[in-house]
Amino acid sequence: MAPAMPLRIAVAGKGGAGKSMIAGTMARALARRGHSVLALGTDAMPGLTHSLGAPPSLEPALAEAVEPDGRRWRLKKGIGPVRAVQRYATTAPDGVRLLDCGTPTGRGADPVYASISAFAQVIRRLEDANAFRDWTLVGDLAAGPEPAAVNWAPYADTWLVVVEPTWKSVLTARRIARITRSRAGKSTLLVMNKASESGLRAAEQMLGERVFASIPADGAVIDADRAGVAPIDHSPSSPAVHAIERLVEALERASIDRMVKS
Ligand SMILES: Nc1ncnc2c1ncn2[C@@H]1O[C@H](COP(=O)(O)OP(=O)(O)OP(=O)(O)O)[C@@H](O)[C@H]1O
Ligand SMILES: [Mg+2]
Repeated sequence: MAPAMPLRIAVAGKGGAGKSMIAGTMARALARRGHSVLALGTDAMPGLTHSLGAPPSLEPALAEAVEPDGRRWRLKKGIGPVRAVQRYATTAPDGVRLLDCGTPTGRGADPVYASISAFAQVIRRLEDANAFRDWTLVGDLAAGPEPAAVNWAPYADTWLVVVEPTWKSVLTARRIARITRSRAGKSTLLVMNKASESGLRAAEQMLGERVFASIPADGAVIDADRAGVAPIDHSPSSPAVHAIERLVEALERASIDRMVKS
């Protein structure tokens, strides 16, 4: 198989909209299409680990990548993106690597701060890391506009804003899109989740624009959640998983179009 053209995607949206489900399933689907995928768990919640079907985080925890520097943390000598992924990432099925900022250590709040700080420093260097030039990056962000405002995905050229067919979700998506669209050279695409056909049309009216893709409300996703199994493993033929596979193909086409135009 020819190497796939790398994608750089951040997934944002309101709490509970389905960011982690979509990011994890996309990462697995992209890996199956030949991408080398690094998934970035920017949210300190375990959503992405579940949707990827990744094993629980391993020791050593990412917090060990940094050392105190006054009241802050700095990456230890010799630790850049390559070493960080080698040492602190887990491997999910289909060969997806997962670097997760939320590795719990059970040793109080300080290691959590250290881990988030290490993660922030690693992702800032990803863009320039030659070793990841051909990798597809998929970031799962924490809820709301704040991660977009402070740019928790500096590597991303495409922001997927996940929106449910509710006013609160639509208003949040609009705020996020306003932020990401204010930055030059970034593409922002809205993805509806958990909508019926009629719900999709109504929500597009609320949004004031058409969405790039729509993932249906799907009981199989809820069943997978209850079983603690990744949707792509639990129900590979479900409507939601199929819709995400189509979304991934559409993102590949959009990326090629952008390259041809530039
Ligand atoms: N298409 C879908 N159909 C049915 N249920 C869904 C769908 N997508 C996600 N869900 C369910 O919605 C819930 C929230 O999904 P998920 O954890 O992916 O959202 P999130 O945006 O990452 O949330 P958080 O803001 O807490 O990180 C989960 O219980 C998930 O199983
Ligand atoms: Mg999540």
